[in-house]
Amino acid sequence: MGKFLVIHGPNLNLLGARKPEIYGRLTLAAVNRKIEQYARAERFRVRIIQANGEGIIVDAIQNGRGWDGLVINPAGYTHTSVAIRDAIEATGLRAVEVHLSNIYARDDFRHRSLIAPVCCGQISGLGWNGYILALEYLRGKVHSSSPPKGSL
Ligand code: DQA
Repeated sequence: MGKFLVIHGPNLNLLGARKPEIYGRLTLAAVNRKIEQYARAERFRVRIIQANGEGIIVDAIQNGRGWDGLVINPAGYTHTSVAIRDAIEATGLRAVEVHLSNIYARDDFRHRSLIAPVCCGQISGLGWNGYILALEYLRGKVHSSSPPKGSL
């Protein structure tokens, strides 16, 4: 039950080929199949998009207004994008930020997320499982009223 949006940010279309020791060996198509399998098994609707452009991601978030939740891996925009942060905040979507790698174990500039403060939480370093765990959390929240950010 429920309707969820999953957004993969820039360069995640290169999954499988891009630094597999950091991001894993699965292609984006394979990760998306895992998400779709989970959605089928648990009977909820999911729309998955990947975009390299910041504006496309902002549009997708705005179009998801009223949906039951957002799982977003903003990729490089995590560390720079006020526009994506504002879009999540403006729509009031219940959002979980996901990173395949552990951003806190990497370069200093990756330690700061502009997006995390407008999300319920963040999953970082658990590979593609992070998307499934985020969806599992959001599913459990369908029909509960929107809490203030940072609280359960
Ligand atoms: C990433 C981490 C980001 O720092 C990086 O720019 C990415 C992917 C991750 O999934 O681990 O492109 O979001």
